[in-house]
Amino acid sequence: MTFDDQEYLRRYPFIDRILISSEEIQLRVRELGNEISRAYQGSSPIFVCILKGAYPFLADLTRCVSVDHEVDFMAVSSYEGGTQSTGVVKIEKDLKGNITGRDVILVEDIIDTGLTIAHLMELLGTRNPRSIRVATLLDKKPARIKNVELHYVGFEIPKEFVIGYGLDYDEKYRNLPFIGIMKA
Ligand code: IMP
Repeated sequence: MTFDDQEYLRRYPFIDRILISSEEIQLRVRELGNEISRAYQGSSPIFVCILKGAYPFLADLTRCVSVDHEVDFMAVSSYEGGTQSTGVVKIEKDLKGNITGRDVILVEDIIDTGLTIAHLMELLGTRNPRSIRVATLLDKKPARIKNVELHYVGFEIPKEFVIGYGLDYDEKYRNLPFIGIMKA
């Protein structure tokens, strides 16, 4: 744990504990960046950041990628059906560029039920990209409802609500440099 992480814990007493420290995140993101760089030699992929949560991951990941690439952004919100996400997502902001014939890497903060990413892959698949892969910082596997293939995963985590590094609670705490768990 870095001095910064400790300082945040002191300032934010509602955080119960740090699940993944900022150092662990930075090391793992570098590994993923290297892996992606090796896999996409000779290609110029488009990283699609799923807003809002994936923005810190996109920024850190792309700075560890050594092949030429572009970034684009998409914002989605899910239609809620009772208490559970239905997986039907509303596109709040669509891509600026054309992905036809391109290698696309969807960048997500967390895959929970898998419904959102499955829907997005289906939607973007209709635009005839050359390939679509998923890079997610977190995989909350025990919560999965829809099976999706995840190509680049930072960390598998238990079925707990987490905040930080892009992930929010009521639109707050996205700025924390680590992944934390709030007090119950
Ligand atoms: P899915 O369709 O259930 O996979 O939903 C994924 C989305 O739910 C993520 O992009 C997050 O916005 C949100 N989400 C899921 N789990 C958490 C969490 O533990 N903390 C904060 N947001 C979460």
